[in-house]
Amino acid sequence: MGQETIYFGRFVSAPTPDELLIRTGAVLVDSKNGKGVITKADWTIDGPNGAVSKFGVEAPVVMPKDNGFFFPGFIDTHIHASQYPNVGIFGKSTLLDWLTTYTFPLESSFGNVNSPMYKDSIEPPDPLARAKKVYNRLINRTLAHGTTTASYYATIHVEATNLLAEIAFKKGQRAYIGRVCMDRPETCPDYYRDESTEQTMANTKASIDYCRSLDPSGELLAHIITPRFAPSCLPETLTQLGALAKEEDLRVQTHISENLNEVKLVKELFPEQKSYADVYDHHGLLTPKTILAHAVHLSKEEMRLVKERKVKVSHCPASNSALGSGFCPVRELLDEGIEVGLGTDVSGGYSTSILDAVRNACMVSRHVGFLNEGDSRYNLGVAEALWLGTMGGAKVVGMEGRLGGFAEGMLWDVQEINLGDVDVRGQGGDTDVDIFGWENWEERVAKWVWNGDERNVRRVWIGGKLVHERR
Ligand SMILES: *[C@@H]1O[C@H](CO)[C@@H](O)[C@H](O)[C@H]1NC(C)=O
Ligand SMILES: [Zn+2]
Repeated sequence: MGQETIYFGRFVSAPTPDELLIRTGAVLVDSKNGKGVITKADWTIDGPNGAVSKFGVEAPVVMPKDNGFFFPGFIDTHIHASQYPNVGIFGKSTLLDWLTTYTFPLESSFGNVNSPMYKDSIEPPDPLARAKKVYNRLINRTLAHGTTTASYYATIHVEATNLLAEIAFKKGQRAYIGRVCMDRPETCPDYYRDESTEQTMANTKASIDYCRSLDPSGELLAHIITPRFAPSCLPETLTQLGALAKEEDLRVQTHISENLNEVKLVKELFPEQKSYADVYDHHGLLTPKTILAHAVHLSKEEMRLVKERKVKVSHCPASNSALGSGFCPVRELLDEGIEVGLGTDVSGGYSTSILDAVRNACMVSRHVGFLNEGDSRYNLGVAEALWLGTMGGAKVVGMEGRLGGFAEGMLWDVQEINLGDVDVRGQGGDTDVDIFGWENWEERVAKWVWNGDERNVRRVWIGGKLVHERR
């Protein structure tokens, strides 16, 4: 294998919320240090041979098909890997009953042979075999959708969480792995919680150590400290997790203000604190490396606190609609100066695809606009939603300037998108995106956003390494 590769062809990206950048040219990717960094980019080169002579290297040239283009890999800033088998299974539930009916039984089955999920099972329970099956499938699935970076929630179990880390690392996905922390007896079931603050901390440290043993640099794989949400943790646990995040300089992820009953519950459980955001702040969990999922019902004051602490928000529109949680006012968050990315929130969200999250973000924003006197200022456009799913996500996971575009110095975490041509007989390709030929490139990208899926993702690279190829 050579150490350098040239990518030539059409490159599409969303470096700003306002417009798509659509260019042809070439980039040179250097994998000598194992990282796969773009060392040169040239937007004047008009052919593969030109690229070789311009860059002055004898490197292989990789090109998309005629109707194809390179696009930055998607960043899923919030996904529960362990919940993947439950996608689409939520009935008419809302957050709190969804957790007890569907989620805790499934998650517990990754480490507890007495999980309610095994009650009627004929086979003897094998939690790790189950975890392996689910995690292998899920990572294949997210890679096939062009997700090059994901911030995962696993379960409370150290062994199964470490297995997720190992599988993601082996498959080459950039991943932040969270062992879920939950130990407050009033809010967590007996069959699924850590026994004490001490146990929560010891288990979290074991998972941190394991992630570090796989990737000491933390570039491709790192642990992310993951209190499930404020109600599920003892106050002392929240304090110690905040201190640990600071000590170890690690990312933090949790949920905030997803659902109104949840907001009420937090008020009851934490009467001393002014607000939900204040609960996290009080425990030292609002840091520039913190990702808060949802943020649907934040007050203006909470938004200002989130902004002040440089905390990031993961917007999960499909989940918010599926569980009837509400409409996240993304425009207001952005106006406040808060950095926002997209999350699938599987399995509150029914899809592992960030492209689907892009669509749903567009849709939900229009409902927000309607509720604000039909003001289209709230609407997110195609470019803006793609920006959230790439550049926005890069900021949310602390990789701004490294992910989300094609600038020199950025990592080659990229998907090759292929669109279908309608031929002279009027027959199309084997995807849902039919290109007739007269559409301009902006229109073609819009058609991909609204009707595209994994069939349009031909190849995926992470850190310069090919990690998925569609056959
Ligand atoms: C995942 O993808 C790899 C590589 O394409 C394949 O060999 C493997 O069978 C897949 N596993 C699952 C569980 O989908
Ligand atoms: Zn979630």
